[in-house]
Amino acid sequence: MERVILDVDTGLDDAVALFLAAGLEEIQVEAVIATNGNVALSKTVENTLNIMETAGCSCPVYKGSDKPLVRKHVIAGEFHGESGLDGPVFGKRKLQHLQEGDGITEMIRLLYENPKEISIVSVGPLTDLAIALEREPNLPTLVKQIIIMGGSFSEGNVTKEAEFNTFADPEAARIVFSCKAKLVLFPLDCTRQVTLSPERLSLYHAKPGRSTEVFAACMDTYMANYEKHAIGWPQIHDPLCVAYLVDPSKVKTILRKVNVDITGGPSYGKTTQLPAGEDDGVWIATTLDIPWFWSLIDRALAALP
Ligand code: RIB
Ligand code: CA
Repeated sequence: MERVILDVDTGLDDAVALFLAAGLEEIQVEAVIATNGNVALSKTVENTLNIMETAGCSCPVYKGSDKPLVRKHVIAGEFHGESGLDGPVFGKRKLQHLQEGDGITEMIRLLYENPKEISIVSVGPLTDLAIALEREPNLPTLVKQIIIMGGSFSEGNVTKEAEFNTFADPEAARIVFSCKAKLVLFPLDCTRQVTLSPERLSLYHAKPGRSTEVFAACMDTYMANYEKHAIGWPQIHDPLCVAYLVDPSKVKTILRKVNVDITGGPSYGKTTQLPAGEDDGVWIATTLDIPWFWSLIDRALAALP
């Protein structure tokens, strides 16, 4: 069983990561922390609660950071919609409600109580993780591994140079990428390889289940927004980090040091690779078994209510 804490800025592809983690029997979700990112914290909290409710998952959901460490808040609403999860309509929740307490404090507590047992998957800006590392310098020895969606070593997606998650909090990303925990990074160079075709989306519309219905409604929005920007089919970034937990052998990685530009100029938030040091570096995902990934999505959605 892979135990995981998910740190999300629930938008449309974060929702897929949440469904995947909730639906796969190999994964035990210990907690979810909703953070500021694609949209404001109040909306990412609401979206996260609605997805976990839909998935029938009663794991605790906490609030994370409401703003980046240094820079001003930026959002990615043009891909995720005004709510951050445009498309599905949700009713009153019965199972899920926001837990009291600060998500970062709870993350540190869970890691202390379960040393080297729990992985962290972070698929939004890295603010929460950076704060946790500063509050608890032992965190790298307590966490099993940290799997991150972020960065780009080719073109960016929010500026020409930078990917959204590192652009949204470059100072936090620099802190995380230089910590001594085992780090696995899924940059755009890898996640852009996984796109949802209209044909595949139509198959989900034909399948039963409320979670599949919500998934398909989210992906309809994602598809429409990608069409609006004329940049091809929707790129399914975040759930690749969850898939890695199930079978790392399906993902090819290289070990490099990762630098983040924090100069504040046109390259602000840009990530670059450097040769890895002796005992440190980031395992950067380069490719993965894409049919295997989709088989996990199918299996998770079929298992969910
Ligand atoms: O650049 C892609 C990332 O930014 C994904 O995590 C997406 O959800 C947005 O947060
Ligand atoms: Ca995200």
